[in-house]
Amino acid sequence: MRVLLGPDVPLEELYAAPAEPWLRLNMVATVDGAATGPSGTSRSINNEPDQEVFRLLRAQADVIVVGAGTLRAEGYRPNPLPIVTVSRSGSVPPTLRGCPPGQVLLATCERAAALEESRDLLGDEHILVLGSHRVDLAALREALVERGFRRILCEGGPHLLRDLLDQGVADEVCVTTVPRVIGGLHPRISNGPPVDVPLRLHTLVEHDGTLLARWFVDQG
Ligand SMILES: NC(=O)c1ccc[n+]([C@@H]2O[C@H](COP(=O)([O-])OP(=O)(O)OC[C@H]3O[C@@H](n4cnc5c(N)ncnc54)[C@H](OP(=O)(O)O)[C@@H]3O)[C@@H](O)[C@H]2O)c1
Repeated sequence: MRVLLGPDVPLEELYAAPAEPWLRLNMVATVDGAATGPSGTSRSINNEPDQEVFRLLRAQADVIVVGAGTLRAEGYRPNPLPIVTVSRSGSVPPTLRGCPPGQVLLATCERAAALEESRDLLGDEHILVLGSHRVDLAALREALVERGFRRILCEGGPHLLRDLLDQGVADEVCVTTVPRVIGGLHPRISNGPPVDVPLRLHTLVEHDGTLLARWFVDQG
């Protein structure tokens, strides 16, 4: 890996969060902006340098937050780190059922259709009801920090990324750009109604043409 912007220090130091609590998003895209590849998930566009940073960011996190759409599409399995699933419908993805208590949390809203079923599956203390019609993502961040999860990593997907930025909840967006153009119809790394969030390039690393960037949300 070659550091193009930032101090020439080991990757662990280069990616250290500058403060706590800290919430960062991590996404991968092709040069033409696709967030998924032919498989319909990000698995068919990511590569080894992206995987290396993906693993590093997990190693530097206390908890992983993921939108339910991504959990379903990518078939997330239980992880040593607790996984928070963010869902309006309030259902627990099939691949995350039956985990030890506390390994999966659900952030949802009062109107969630599957709320009662999810309470039975995960246990009431692992359900965060944060808002009536929509999940209040600032309240989610606070609730996670109260539980001791101060280094929060969000692995997408595009709708959740957009909402976290819109609600002013994210501190950082890590984006890997893989050196490929794939055309076709694919989502970008953000999806949903328009937002306009200024970012500041903090770090840029290159490996065989793959660009790994840390963008900090410009707090003005
Ligand atoms: N390139 C990358 O780095 C990357 C990363 C992650 C995912 N992806 C890809 O993105 C695709 C999925 O896209 P997506 O936009 O559907 O992902 P997503 O944002 O994870 O999923 C959308 C679903 O998540 C829940 N959700 C998201 N934001 C929410 C919010 N603010 N409040 C409450 N619930 C919220 C809702 O679940 P309910 O329907 O349960 O209410 C919503 O329908 C997959 O193909 C995946 O592989 C790519």
